[in-house]
Amino acid sequence: MMEAPARIGIATISDRASRGEYEDRGGPAIREYLGEILTSPWEPVARVIPDELPQVEATLRELCDGERCCLVITTGGTGPASRDVTPEATEAVCQKMMPGFGELMRQVSLQKVPTAILSRQTAGIRGQSLIVNLPGQPKAIRECLDAVFPAIPYCIDLLGGPYLTTDPDKVKAFRPKK
Ligand code: MTE
Repeated sequence: MMEAPARIGIATISDRASRGEYEDRGGPAIREYLGEILTSPWEPVARVIPDELPQVEATLRELCDGERCCLVITTGGTGPASRDVTPEATEAVCQKMMPGFGELMRQVSLQKVPTAILSRQTAGIRGQSLIVNLPGQPKAIRECLDAVFPAIPYCIDLLGGPYLTTDPDKVKAFRPKK
């Protein structure tokens, strides 16, 4: 039997993109990145929503519980502005936080831009899903995902999710030997 494709949530959190004032570039950039690196079957579940805490929380819950995404990647809303609430929404819906993701992404991003320190991006576990926040800058997506993706397939193994494989020339997924 063919394995069902892994479902991956892609949530663009932006007032202006959700109003159609500009085109969502972050969501498509995440999708393109995943298409390049993943060699196992997967399908995207995309959402574009405004920076409203209840709506961000509801979307994250829906992607994890209803849409059964093993991984949910958000873009935007991680900064210091009053409308930036993505990390708060992530904390509110997760049972466990995974602070190492934010630590590593900020560390690598700081090699690119001094304002990387302004991102409060984090990650956490809700049920069987891993939620990872990325900044809204489309170019931040590759910078951040290149850093943390090697650990994501094993994290999803530990949550009982689908077995993700990657193109080793692009991202080397690391699974400790048992
Ligand atoms: N990280 C990377 N890798 N590249 C970037 O350009 N921009 C920073 C930071 N992290 C950036 C980055 C800036 S300018 C801000 S304000 C914060 O992310 C928060 O962005 P957000 O509110 O769009 O999530």
